[in-house]
Amino acid sequence: MPGHKIGFPLILINFKAYREASGRRGLELAKVAEQVSKEVGVTIAVAPQLTDLAFIASQVEIPVFSQHVDSVEPGSHTGHVTLEAVRDAGAIGTMVNHSERRVRADQVDFVVKHARALGLATVVCADTPEVTAAMAALGPDMVAIEPPELIGTGIPVSRAKPEVVTRSVELVQRVNPQVKVLCGAGITTGEDVAAALRLGTVGVLLASGVVKAKDWRKAILDLVEPIVKR
Ligand code: G3P
Repeated sequence: MPGHKIGFPLILINFKAYREASGRRGLELAKVAEQVSKEVGVTIAVAPQLTDLAFIASQVEIPVFSQHVDSVEPGSHTGHVTLEAVRDAGAIGTMVNHSERRVRADQVDFVVKHARALGLATVVCADTPEVTAAMAALGPDMVAIEPPELIGTGIPVSRAKPEVVTRSVELVQRVNPQVKVLCGAGITTGEDVAAALRLGTVGVLLASGVVKAKDWRKAILDLVEPIVKR
């Protein structure tokens, strides 16, 4: 893991492009996550929209991830996002290849290699156990198994498709045991997190269960409860 401290189990909240978590609302949610993280001693990270990243990273002490970066060096690449830029903005890492922002394997390879050189952590998303293993072979810090059909449904992968999670953990262990496995899609409760940990992952990647909750603090406290009780 490059030069930053991420504790495990990890709760990574992806703000996606939700209006509920953009601009000042995004900062409010990041501060609620920071407050709960400090209260209970569980690592909670956030992945805000790019336009809010620097602002939020300057206001909270919890890890901030970019939701995506492009596989380009700094230079004449209009509209692209570089690893150097998200690092300068205060991110400690980046997600890449999320099912809502798919990239090619060679682009994932570029991001993982350059992120490591820059001291940024990487979370590579994948939709099947086999792809998760292939992404683990590229040497990221973390891979996140997320069956796209469960995203946003509130039907947790850790309980609806436990075999997908355990298979991903097994294959990654075989291919590159250094790589940590997260799981996501439909995770909304502490029981979903507990199930994910029982299946061998070291954390979860989630979005709507928190971002769209009426009470962010209550939703996050519920998520971390099984970790606190361990
Ligand atoms: O990045 C995590 C996300 O894709 C999962 O979405 O709304 O099911 O938590 P959600």
